[in-house]
Amino acid sequence: MLRTTTCGALTIDNLGENVILCGWVQKSRDLGGMTFIDIRDRYGITQLVFNMDDNRELCEAARTLGREFVIQASGLVVERSNKNLKIPTGEVEIKITALEILNASKIPPFLIEDETDGGDDLRMKYRYLDLRRNPVRNNMVLRHRMAQSVRRYLDALDFIEVETPVLIKSTPEGARDFVVPSRMNAGEFYALPQSPQTFKQLLMVSGFDRYFQIVKCFRDEDLRADRQPEFTQIDCEMSFIEQEDILNTFEGLIRTLFKEVKDFDLPEVPRMQYADAMRFYGSDKPDTRFDMRFVELNEQTKGKNFPVFDNAELVIGINAKGCAHYTRKQVDELTDFIKRPQIGATGLIYARHNEDGSIKSSVDKFYSEEDLKTWAEALQTQPGDLMLIMAGVKDKVRKQLSELRLEMGSRLGLRDKNVFSALWVLDFPLLEWDEESERYHAMHHPFTSPKPEDIALLDTHPGEVRANAYDMVVNGTEIGGGSIRIHDRTLQALMFKHLGFSPEEAQKQFGFLMDAFEFGAPPHGGIAFGFDRLCSIFAGLDTIRDVIAFPKNNSGRDVMIDSPSTIDDKQLKELRIKTSL
Ligand code: AMO
Repeated sequence: MLRTTTCGALTIDNLGENVILCGWVQKSRDLGGMTFIDIRDRYGITQLVFNMDDNRELCEAARTLGREFVIQASGLVVERSNKNLKIPTGEVEIKITALEILNASKIPPFLIEDETDGGDDLRMKYRYLDLRRNPVRNNMVLRHRMAQSVRRYLDALDFIEVETPVLIKSTPEGARDFVVPSRMNAGEFYALPQSPQTFKQLLMVSGFDRYFQIVKCFRDEDLRADRQPEFTQIDCEMSFIEQEDILNTFEGLIRTLFKEVKDFDLPEVPRMQYADAMRFYGSDKPDTRFDMRFVELNEQTKGKNFPVFDNAELVIGINAKGCAHYTRKQVDELTDFIKRPQIGATGLIYARHNEDGSIKSSVDKFYSEEDLKTWAEALQTQPGDLMLIMAGVKDKVRKQLSELRLEMGSRLGLRDKNVFSALWVLDFPLLEWDEESERYHAMHHPFTSPKPEDIALLDTHPGEVRANAYDMVVNGTEIGGGSIRIHDRTLQALMFKHLGFSPEEAQKQFGFLMDAFEFGAPPHGGIAFGFDRLCSIFAGLDTIRDVIAFPKNNSGRDVMIDSPSTIDDKQLKELRIKTSL
């Protein structure tokens, strides 16, 4: 080893020891007779001291060191006169007797310190330098600890980690695939897996009983703060279980993670039906750090000749507690917020429950104070609260009010990153109508089993069939989802029929799975957690990019290695790909 210890280890207990340290020059101070160098590695920072009177040559060599030079320094641990009690090594320094420059460094393009002056783009281009900074590296350390915790928990429960292939087959369901041309099979393509779904089911047919994998998945979809084109799942599957077993096993995983990694006791995770989540929060991933449930107000508002409410399928409101003092300007801001194209609402009605008990609304022309009292009762307002009400087509207005609810939660400081609230959302619909393709799509995926009591509805009311499917939500982010699977060929074929597949197409795409179901497929089910999302929530971050060592930017590019990139004609020819570009 080139070193005897690290830059984060030496304390007053090591006084008098001769040590050798390796690391990067964080900063240097030249005080004439003395030069101080802070040397940094992953473990910490240690101060080196060079004294002109002791060794002139060494001191002059130290003066030539630039930021981020990699050095090896040998010397004696001595007590510091000027102590820095903020860092573990701050009571000692190393009186240097030998110094070697292991490698010089150009001046880095931004400060390698906790607070840096580098913008996003620059830090992404030099991601390997950004990763030298404590906050960025700490996120990776957290991720590592979480992965270890996951492995320990699942291993203790007899889960086997199995690797599934990365070059698989493109399928029409789900998001777009990333495809890879095959040189040996001209004109044919592999696809990168969007998830190992079918393979983990096949492993159940193989009798593996309990499988997991911390695995890369690839989806060619538009990027957001919580989406990357390649991301990692904690992918799990179990045989001979019912939904209840999956919920318990994986609630255990998440609670163990919170305990081991954050020393946080996550309470038992409440459960909510999908239909209720939509009704009370307008979202299948409600942020339950705060309540502010929707209250339906059709009854209280109809028949007063206010066309916006009279003509609406749904009138719903929330109680913004303590916001009656909002000025006109503040309410206008909220109106502008919901009118943004991303939300697309037409307007917002409000009613103030004033401190003196009176109630005044923006639609006083139509509603008397007596009428408004019925709203206040329904919304359970107290003096000082503000009622925010929207109306429209059911599904749309719920989504819009959901955005406003989150906005109010943020404004009221109810979305603290150090508070964690988890929720199971259960009984998702099996199918969802897609306007564009004018057919039903599987809401989760086509292998999800319908609730047995709803199977009869498949022919008559497909949209009403509920699935044995569940999501886990933490702080308004979907961190995981899964289902009990179909394990019977006939039912699987029926599902494909309802998804608009001809029997031939179904056989071509998924015949391997349906065939496998004919060889003793056990009842099975599973779940996959978005590992990056989980890590970013644990780290209190807004984007999953910061928990990924080498992430893509918002255009799906890696600006460090400059990918994606063109390939040369020879490669294209070999792959028999013609481009029109
Ligand atoms: P699903 O598609 O719900 O289920 O994915 C599981 C979890 O993966 C995370 N996730 C993502 N994270 C980052 N970037 C993305 N682009 C991205 N897409 C999804 C989410 C999500 O909850 N095979 C099924 C699971 C199963 O049924 O067992 C599946 O992939 O946190």
